[in-house]
Amino acid sequence: MMRKMPKVLATSRIPEEGLRMLEEHCDVKVFDYEGVFPRDVLLKEVNGVNAIVCLLADKIDGEVMDAAGPQLKIIANYAVGFDNIDVDAATKRGIMVTNTPGVLTDTTADLAWALLLATARRVVEGDKFLRQGKFKGWKPMLLLGTDVYHATLGIIGFGNIGRAVARRAMGFDMKIIYYSAHKAPVELERKLNAEYRPLDDLLKEADFVSIHVPLTKETRHLIGERELKMMKKEAYLINTARGPIVDEKALAKALKEGWIRGAGLDVFEREPEVEPELLELDNAVLLPHLGSASYATRAKMATMVAENALKALKGEVPPNLINPEVIMGR
Ligand code: NAP
Ligand code: GLV
Ligand code: GLV
Repeated sequence: MMRKMPKVLATSRIPEEGLRMLEEHCDVKVFDYEGVFPRDVLLKEVNGVNAIVCLLADKIDGEVMDAAGPQLKIIANYAVGFDNIDVDAATKRGIMVTNTPGVLTDTTADLAWALLLATARRVVEGDKFLRQGKFKGWKPMLLLGTDVYHATLGIIGFGNIGRAVARRAMGFDMKIIYYSAHKAPVELERKLNAEYRPLDDLLKEADFVSIHVPLTKETRHLIGERELKMMKKEAYLINTARGPIVDEKALAKALKEGWIRGAGLDVFEREPEVEPELLELDNAVLLPHLGSASYATRAKMATMVAENALKALKGEVPPNLINPEVIMGR
């Protein structure tokens, strides 16, 4: 008798490199909805699967896990951020949860820099201006922006991506200050020329503030009206982490009323929705969550997800296990 292959539900098509690895060993059902995978379909289709391969927009909570059944071994997130998954609920049920750290660090740091430069030097406004036929010739006061070089960069969340953003800032001779859950080792501070600051001090001092903390209970609305008002009037806010870390309504008000000069956003509070007021503002550059969106990185994330799922299905420890409590005492 042929051995039954484990069942995998993929809530979206992922790059071939990973999909092929999964299909070699598993019975994979791939969905391909244009937007977010509908919750009712998820609750129905998850029944009986051994692994879920999901995206950051898929809310995987206890209800989904129970709808899957006790044979569910692993939830493999196609993202480094895993705020979409109720990890405690998974641990209680003995389900492994994995993510894709590291491979997307530099790609996401590059995008944070793209937003920083685009907002400071009004790249998107300039492009629009030219295409609208408004460029009549070089002018001393045309579309003036803010210098990036020698400015002070404040990094909130000094993990993989935050540090990669700091490394890039060295080429612009910036002063680098950071706030994070823990102070970095002195050696690293020295190497990156970075100094720790309490959050309020960082907000008051930085010309550019870039957010790189995960979304947790503690970081939800970490940046609200109070914090935006602490920032310099000439400062910019860059968010490539998660939308709900910033109070989007307060940010729209800040940009409109000139509490700060501009913002570059890759993430939003209620994705894919965007606060309508932001859409009207020229001093905001808005991207559709493109942080890790390079061909090479998305392919690496796909093989990482496949490796995590396959290892767990074989009863081995997946390389990017978030909840090792599940395998303790095995
Ligand atoms: P990481 O290496 O885990 O870094 C996160 C950092 O945030 C850590 O240094 C951590 O400090 C710090 N932190 C955690 N909770 C904090 C708190 N309450 N207050 C202050 N600092 C806190 O993660 P990463 O790979 O850099 O990714 C960061 C986030 O970026 C992800 O969680 C994800 O949401 C987002 N992301 C977005 C995109 C995109 O497409 N736009 C792409 C990739 C990642 P400790 O280490 O001291 O705990
Ligand atoms: C993207 O946002 C990620 O967390 O990987
Ligand atoms: C600008 O193009 C300059 O030459 O200064």
